[in-house]
Amino acid sequence: MPYQIRDMEPLPYYAEAASRAATAAGALLIQQLGRHGPVKTKRSAIDLVTRVDRASERLIRRLLLRADPRIGFLGEERGARNRAAACRWIVDPLDGTTNFVHGLPLFGVSIGLQEAGTIRVGVIYDPVRRELFAATKGGGAFLNGRRICVSAASRLSRSLLSTGFSSRFLAHNQPYAGWFRTLQRHSHGVRRIGSSVWCLAAVAAGRLEGFYERDLWPWDMAAGVLLVAEAGGTVTDLAGHPPVLERGRLVATNGRIHRELLRALSLK
Ligand code: IPD
Ligand code: CA
Ligand code: CA
Repeated sequence: MPYQIRDMEPLPYYAEAASRAATAAGALLIQQLGRHGPVKTKRSAIDLVTRVDRASERLIRRLLLRADPRIGFLGEERGARNRAAACRWIVDPLDGTTNFVHGLPLFGVSIGLQEAGTIRVGVIYDPVRRELFAATKGGGAFLNGRRICVSAASRLSRSLLSTGFSSRFLAHNQPYAGWFRTLQRHSHGVRRIGSSVWCLAAVAAGRLEGFYERDLWPWDMAAGVLLVAEAGGTVTDLAGHPPVLERGRLVATNGRIHRELLRALSLK
């Protein structure tokens, strides 16, 4: 019989475990900032990785395994462990590696817990600002223990947006320029922050009205989609359907501007 959610501890137990792991990994990132050593590349010349990405993943994996060894694990750097498990952690141990390598203090750690296709727990930690964002399915979204909700802006023209350009499919980036031109004219502006998980946490906290990107990875999206939804926002793919982590297309907003943003993105 596969391991199921009803055999598990209550969700706050896992939120607590993920929060502890994200905070510990964040402390490691801060300690290693500026000391990352050689920079290697992965799927493209601008897809960077350092030994700190890997050390952070090892630490998170060890702490989460200690919390419940029955749960599977999918991490960006070392792939999957215990594939047969019905529940798995989905982890980006350092999102914003390019910023990290350049000493630009905008990066984060992301940990989601998925069961039967649904994200049940999402935690994002910004170690520079010591901001811990945490959500459980049906339990709301919190920043350092205080409830958060998405912004009340109801028009695209009053919205601050953010996007990212994929580092894995350089040739696929063409729609971004068109989207950028359109949205720069029809909003308060489009930021390009360099950390998708940071942007998703910002949408959940009402600091950005919307974020969109295509060609993301499951670990870029897992925790953030739950945080935005639990903060009252809307998450879909570019066609307005529920997002599929493996397809990597994401539009996350405060809900109020969602249709307007989808329409603008469909114009290219
Ligand atoms: C990347 C960042 C970036 C986004 C890329 C991601 P990484 O993650 O989130 O903002 O545009 O699509 O792959 O490589 O820094 O973990
Ligand atoms: Ca990432
Ligand atoms: Ca990463």
